[in-house]
Amino acid sequence: MRSISILAGTTLAALSLAACASNGPPGSDPMSPSAERGQRLAERRCAGCHAVGLDESPAASGPRFSDLHLRYNALSLQKRFAEITEHGSGEMPPIHISRQDAEDLVAYFETLGG
Ligand code: HEC
Repeated sequence: MRSISILAGTTLAALSLAACASNGPPGSDPMSPSAERGQRLAERRCAGCHAVGLDESPAASGPRFSDLHLRYNALSLQKRFAEITEHGSGEMPPIHISRQDAEDLVAYFETLGG
């Protein structure tokens, strides 16, 4: 059963990538100022443990941000950031993410994976 649900997840991810691809080549749009702030913040404060871009950075102990982008929407990401600010997440220590930081990070996440 597990392999079936993994397969379904992969198919969904592929479908959503295909849907986004019709908007033009990835990276062709300039980033919004908010997304740029989010990217700088991610590179400064998160890149030690997460692959924060689209590359296959091996330095990561946490999940890749491009994968999180597929698993969460803007609203659930905001909630996750609030929880992390309070409690951390598993092996991730609590890291303060302000409301503004969270908005910028969400804007940046939305540029990942098209
Ligand atoms: C000290 C290392 C470390 C740093 C720094 C770090 N993380 Fe994490 N993060 C982790 C690890 C390890 C996990 C996986 C733990 C878990 O959720 O079980 C994780 C999980 C997460 C999750 C939850 C993933 C999920 O599956 O729900 C989010 C969201 C997240 N990190 C965002 C961030 C953001 C945003 C930053 C920068 C502000 C950041 N992390 C900085 C180590 C780190």
